[in-house]
Amino acid sequence: DKNLIIAIDGHSSCGKSTVAKDLAKKINYTYIDSGAMYRVVTLFAMRNGLILEDKVDENKLAHFIDQISISFRYNESKQRHETYMNDELVEDEIRNMEVSDKVSFIAKIKFVREKMVTLQRDLSKSGGVIMDGRDIGTVVFPNADLKIFMTADVEVRAIRRYKELKEKGEDISLEAIRENVKKRDFIDENREESPLRKAEDAIILNNSQLSPEEQLDWIIERMKEIK
Ligand code: C5P
Repeated sequence: DKNLIIAIDGHSSCGKSTVAKDLAKKINYTYIDSGAMYRVVTLFAMRNGLILEDKVDENKLAHFIDQISISFRYNESKQRHETYMNDELVEDEIRNMEVSDKVSFIAKIKFVREKMVTLQRDLSKSGGVIMDGRDIGTVVFPNADLKIFMTADVEVRAIRRYKELKEKGEDISLEAIRENVKKRDFIDENREESPLRKAEDAIILNNSQLSPEEQLDWIIERMKEIK
């Protein structure tokens, strides 16, 4: 069946997007990074001075939000999915520490979530989709064909993220990354709107000890069990 919807939720920096992308490539599905959408809104809010410390000017953001268009394109030469904000390539900028530091405050806002969920459903109309995030199995696609809830030890996650950012040339300490990962999990799990939760029918994948290949094999086995 080519039109399944696969939802991958879980904690910050536990490799959801890596396995989702690997799987999408292998079975020729569309990969959708829902976190990138919240990151774009955050970047937009930052650039327009709508975030002070951890306070968001929600009235102004509500006024501007329809001016933000979010799209994804595949870059053949770099072999990667890239995120665009109003046709500007922002793929690297949305992954930096400043955005990571603020994104959970933006993702708490109800009207932001409603808008993102609509967009996520629109992009998935034809099926054959793998989407990763925090509320995909609980809110965006409660009827997804396969739901996976990923997690890993905090230390393992922090080290993975540290290596990734170092490779990109970001100057950041392991300590700062560990704190960011913990803080985002806390805010994501404790917010009122669509908190991060394992859907009842999701299968847990703790990948602390698993290589990307092993994770991919594990998911493919789970796909075979879908009735
Ligand atoms: O997946 P990623 O780490 O890029 O997501 C960044 C942030 O966006 C998360 O920490 C969370 O606050 C928010 N998010 C969300 N719901 C999603 C995806 C991401 O609230 N479906």
